[in-house]
Amino acid sequence: MKNLSDKMQQCFSQSTMMLLKRVGAISKHMGCKAYLIGGTVRDLFLCKENLDIDIVIEGDAIHFGERLAHELHGIIISHKRFGTCTVTTPEYIKIDFATARRETYAKPAALPTVEFSSFRDDLTRRDFTVNAMAISLNEEGFGNLIDFFDGVGDIEKKQIKVLHDKSFVDDPTRILRGIRLEKRLGFTVEPHTANLMRKSIEKEIYKRVQAPRLRDEIILTLKEKELFHTIKRMDEFRALKIVHPYLKLHEDLSGTFTAIDEACSWYNDNSPRKRSIEKWLIYLMVLFNDVSYDGTLYFCNKFELKRGERLRMISYKRQSSKVLKTLNAKRKILPSKIYRLLEPLSHEVTLLLMAVSRSGLGKGRIMEFFHKYNGMRTAVKGDDIKALGVKAGPHFAKIVEKILYKKLNGILNNREEELEYAKKLAKRRL
Ligand code: CTP
Repeated sequence: MKNLSDKMQQCFSQSTMMLLKRVGAISKHMGCKAYLIGGTVRDLFLCKENLDIDIVIEGDAIHFGERLAHELHGIIISHKRFGTCTVTTPEYIKIDFATARRETYAKPAALPTVEFSSFRDDLTRRDFTVNAMAISLNEEGFGNLIDFFDGVGDIEKKQIKVLHDKSFVDDPTRILRGIRLEKRLGFTVEPHTANLMRKSIEKEIYKRVQAPRLRDEIILTLKEKELFHTIKRMDEFRALKIVHPYLKLHEDLSGTFTAIDEACSWYNDNSPRKRSIEKWLIYLMVLFNDVSYDGTLYFCNKFELKRGERLRMISYKRQSSKVLKTLNAKRKILPSKIYRLLEPLSHEVTLLLMAVSRSGLGKGRIMEFFHKYNGMRTAVKGDDIKALGVKAGPHFAKIVEKILYKKLNGILNNREEELEYAKKLAKRRL
């Protein structure tokens, strides 16, 4: 039996190694068995540290997690129904524990019926051979590789292969997982697996999958580094229709993705008010270019996108062409006008406008917005205006807004000038 302790020592950080040894010690104490499993094992062969640690326990996983969390002063979140839990250590290492289980699918794409069972059954239910390997963490035999389906052979052949012919019928989300993995690892879906995948797509079995499960896989796909190649491969498999029947692969998509990447890195390097950007959502907006407003709304509802995500998708659909037309116009535009156009939009929408804006003028105006205007506030505050005798209400907000616009346009340059102007405005209404 192959032992991978040395390889683990080489590729895992010291804290991960210590943690895995600790898991081994606890399993001895509790008289159960613990195995490292899934992506962490796969990536070990590629010498990439996968920070998502999955451990299967032949025994009570929740009880096990509680013990580890207690010993490490970590935090545990348990899901009793599924016999799973997640422990987060004080060093922020996250470990998912599951009880070894067997799954049977009553009908295609249904949620599986879960029974707790042996470790071998657990491996048999998995998606691809490269994901169905495990490493023993038990003190006796720590580092021993368990590879019933020749995952190592497939890693050497650089191929993605299912464990059995019903894999994509049982769980069509594996179509997206397979394509993702292929492009991420630079592997190839082997011919028989590719045929099974095509058949499952042709029969549209994915339509029976619960939409939120598909949504999660779509989002993970959009977060891949090799996104264009992943989308291209989805197109080759006719798998884009899993997302929406009208999605198309345009010739200029690769260029648009590059422009989005450039806009986002510009933002990260230059914007004074940085906040984290949901880049995957920007890619999704672009993919929906050919889909109508109603079609986009239908997608957002069906896949239960979060309110904020939905609003961003919709606002791009509704406003992008109008805003871009104005921003690309050759005539002079006041900063307050740029502000009024862009401030209500999310950064994701604005960055996409920057990426797709064909004129340097439009791009420049968006950059200026991020640089100077975004989040600008007046020096005069509410209390100053109250002191002028203005009562709270719409007029109050109007005064602040007017001061801000003059400030943006460079007419008011300090607090005194703002206060002077506020007095004038207040008098008009007193
Ligand atoms: N798995 C599966 N079928 C699915 C989802 C997951 O068989 N539809 C199994 C695979 O063995 C996988 C493991 O569960 O390796 C963990 O799943 P996940 O954490 O989603 O993926 P990873 O393989 O760890 O890959 P990634 O690096 O993308 O997180």
